[in-house]
Amino acid sequence: RKKRLTAPDIRARKGATPVVAVTAYNAVMARLVDPHVEIVLVGDSLAMVEHGMESTLGVSLELMIAHGRAVVAGAPTALVVVDLPFGSYEAGPAEAFRTAARVMAETGCGAVKLEGGAHMAETIAFLAARGIPVMAHVGLTPQAMNALGGFRTQGHDEAGRAAILADAQAVSDAGAFAVVLEGIVEPLALEITAAIAAPTIGIGAAAACDGQILVLEDMLGLTERPPRFVKRYADLGAAVEKAVGAYAEEVRSRTFPGPENVYQPRG
Ligand code: KIV
Ligand code: NA
Repeated sequence: RKKRLTAPDIRARKGATPVVAVTAYNAVMARLVDPHVEIVLVGDSLAMVEHGMESTLGVSLELMIAHGRAVVAGAPTALVVVDLPFGSYEAGPAEAFRTAARVMAETGCGAVKLEGGAHMAETIAFLAARGIPVMAHVGLTPQAMNALGGFRTQGHDEAGRAAILADAQAVSDAGAFAVVLEGIVEPLALEITAAIAAPTIGIGAAAACDGQILVLEDMLGLTERPPRFVKRYADLGAAVEKAVGAYAEEVRSRTFPGPENVYQPRG
């Protein structure tokens, strides 16, 4: 893969082989994941994972842009999608356009993501018509945690399932090139995936979605208490502790630096 993937490339993957997506917040991780995935998401989960905040609500536009620029620099071929932060787009289509245009201009990303269903459909159509591909995000939407009553899986009653299906349908009809389904019961994820035209990207949803996404630090074992839907593919937390512990011991015993790590005068 030499050319960077685009939102239409992802849109065309509906019903085809699964789309692989993962988050990254910096150039180092972006470079490592780029050859293996189609989408790198600069998620506002960086609030908790990278900045130790309690929720995603305190993230600024400037912070998302700084991380977005680093990820675009590090990931040469994946589609980079940047989350629009809480409070930067919800007031209406014009505000969302100004925010999203700034994110795209200042980071070089290929698309933005925003949270919300039917009530965001008009905004999604407005952006899409003006050259800004939008990834939608429905179900458990962390920016709405205060309204949802915390981080709770969604779709446990019939009315809730109908509302989420209607949300997914609305954002797909509005032109979202993909829809993240987060924290919903599996049968609902199957129903939505079968019903809507846009590819669904699941997280805590279903293997039958058109793609999957995970927070990179969760799957690498770098975060403390990841949700149950996360699978840990590595224990980098333990590897970091072991490495730094060994370094500390060698510094204290003066075995680091060794002869090969220091310079002697040439003449
Ligand atoms: O912020 C984030 O990382 C996300 C993904 C979990 C979908 O929105
Ligand atoms: Na997010």
